[in-house]
Amino acid sequence: MMQILANTARLMLAEGKGLLAIDESVATCNKRFAELGIDQTETARQNWRELMITTPNLSECISGVILYDETIRQHQQNHSSFSQAISTAGMVPGIKVDTGSKALAGHEGEQVSEGLDCLRERLQEYSAMGVRFAKWRAVITVGEHLPSLAGIDANAHALARYAALCQEAGLVPVVEPEVLMTGSHSLAQCQAVTETVLRCVFGQLARQGVALEGMILKANMVLPGLNCEQQAGLMEVAEATLNCLLRTVPAAVPGIAFLSGGQSAQLATARLQAISSLAPICTPWCLTFSFARAIQQPALAIWAGRPENRLAAQQALLHRARCNQAARRQEYSP
Ligand code: 13P
Repeated sequence: MMQILANTARLMLAEGKGLLAIDESVATCNKRFAELGIDQTETARQNWRELMITTPNLSECISGVILYDETIRQHQQNHSSFSQAISTAGMVPGIKVDTGSKALAGHEGEQVSEGLDCLRERLQEYSAMGVRFAKWRAVITVGEHLPSLAGIDANAHALARYAALCQEAGLVPVVEPEVLMTGSHSLAQCQAVTETVLRCVFGQLARQGVALEGMILKANMVLPGLNCEQQAGLMEVAEATLNCLLRTVPAAVPGIAFLSGGQSAQLATARLQAISSLAPICTPWCLTFSFARAIQQPALAIWAGRPENRLAAQQALLHRARCNQAARRQEYSP
């Protein structure tokens, strides 16, 4: 089993490639569509996702694609399933398996991700559909008295139980504790919170017996809050992010894939490049991207739900994926 997990992780972390996340829940996908005046229908969501995964040459820079439950049950116009189409194109299919975050009882302003009930059975079903990895996202809010230890513990525990179930099913868990950018906290506060969260997550992963060699960490970059008056330069972000990860992520973890978290596409790529430029001298893990908005958003705005914009949208999607590949190789120029 360990060999299967390590092989999948190796494919997902292939040189110069990263993950494309297209795993928005129905509500989140509809929200992004509504902002651009796109119909909020199942057909529109299917068309958008089919457009993305059939982008020619995408597999040159994308190693794996994270799907959502609705999408994995849909079929493309040529009748093949999304997971078959992704595999045939030379990418690894994955699936988001948390069922979203809910208010944490007794802890105002904090959330805990749900989805552990029947997860073993759901993973078996997804595995039979051809999926080889799964993703679970926990969200951590930074505020005056947040996050609480209760909020961190609850999310870390759920992540570890999810990760253990994934490995039992032969699926690589992508473990995503996201410290949100919303708020007015400083770079230093984000670093301190992210360190505390990651220490707790790796403690829980050890307690649940998760094999670090067979998982991938999906991490936030260390950034000041969006409303913080003092924003940070590229190298400051890179240093804070790497210091945080070096202090908390064991060397046995094969790779860390960054989320974009609402940064603009260009900034996410520039920061990925800054991190990649410092990493080779100090990190034991492979560093890559697992972006949703920072790859999709420019292409979605071009598509706008219109079939005649399909090719232009695919070109924009491929362009952002290529930019992030270049950033991994420190060859990106904005
Ligand atoms: P963003 O890159 O838009 O933050 O999405 C990350 C994510 O978790 C989706 O899988």
